Amino acid sequence: MFGRGATEREGQAKRYKRVALVKGDGIGPEVIESTLQVLEAVGAELELVPIELGYGRWKRTGHAMTSQDVDEAKECDCILFGAITTPPDPNYKSVLLTLRKELELYANIRPIKGNDVNLIIVRENTEGMYSGIEELSYDKATTLRVITRKGSQKIAEKACQLTTPKKKLTIVHKSNVLKSDSLFLKVCRETAERYGVHYEDMLVDAAAYNLVINPGRFDILVTTNLFGDILSDEAAGVIGGLGLCPSANLGDKYALFEPIHGSAPDIAGKGLANPVGAILSAAMMLRWFGDEERAQEIEKTVGRAQEDGVKTPDMGGHYNTKEVTKFIVKLLG
Ligand code: NAI
Ligand code: MG
Repeated sequence: MFGRGATEREGQAKRYKRVALVKGDGIGPEVIESTLQVLEAVGAELELVPIELGYGRWKRTGHAMTSQDVDEAKECDCILFGAITTPPDPNYKSVLLTLRKELELYANIRPIKGNDVNLIIVRENTEGMYSGIEELSYDKATTLRVITRKGSQKIAEKACQLTTPKKKLTIVHKSNVLKSDSLFLKVCRETAERYGVHYEDMLVDAAAYNLVINPGRFDILVTTNLFGDILSDEAAGVIGGLGLCPSANLGDKYALFEPIHGSAPDIAGKGLANPVGAILSAAMMLRWFGDEERAQEIEKTVGRAQEDGVKTPDMGGHYNTKEVTKFIVKLLG
């Protein structure tokens, strides 16, 4: 639907950005369809490489993802991901965790914007509680929480790079109980000092409380994997819903962009899916490609649709997925 492959334009070879497109399961294909229409309306020039991953694929083939799929994704510049349903298989290896590890997507960036709330959660994405070093027996289970200096430093650097003179960095941790977090806190502090950013630190339980009581007090939060996972869903709830929030998983080479919601099987196929999280994820993708202009155009237009009350039922609106998309596309056109 967009440009495909290298093209000759005015005598100059031009390579479109290659985007691996994972529609996924449930509402994944619905929100991705909306996103593609918006990308087309804004004139984004992309080469789309569809890759089927997830539950549907698992049902058909017994595999949700293969190493070939990972190789194919690595041939692309980034991945645009809908959402997938977790297959009911005890040996299932998480598709997203595998992609995050294989593509070294160590930073999960989750902007949360709403009335008087404008914060970004910067979550370490590859270690901590999700390091995958676990043992499970009949009467005992252990999960090893690995925090490294290198991992902490890299995520702290990403957070500092997002911090402007007017914005404060909050380092979220539980170092009063966890030795692993005393290392995380130490490295984040050192990094913040080195970058000269304004920072504070906060225990994760206090951060969870403050996010509900006074979310406007936060600008940039940096935290470890599990805490970031939980706090970002909480923050999404504070501004009105999972369906609104985009995210980026960034490494030094690759990136994956996805709405923070899952495949929502309860509403799949009913036209109730809010496409905004997926559309804003595509805006983050364009920004990552350096296309700030189109990214802003999408963000402004989506904001306008919300202000005009053209919203899906999860936001109290009475429009369906296609109607919201059509409205946004029309504003862009
Ligand atoms: P979920 O995010 O899919 O849904 C939670 C609730 O929010 C549901 O009531 C759903 O209807 C609603 N919701 C989510 N997105 C929405 C949207 N765009 N518009 C309107 N309402 C929306 O989480 P849940 O139910 O825990 O998981 C469902 C499946 O998705 C599971 O198999 C889970 O493993 C998977 N999942 C996949 C993720 C991914 O692919 N990134 C992330 C989270 C869950
Ligand atoms: Mg989550």
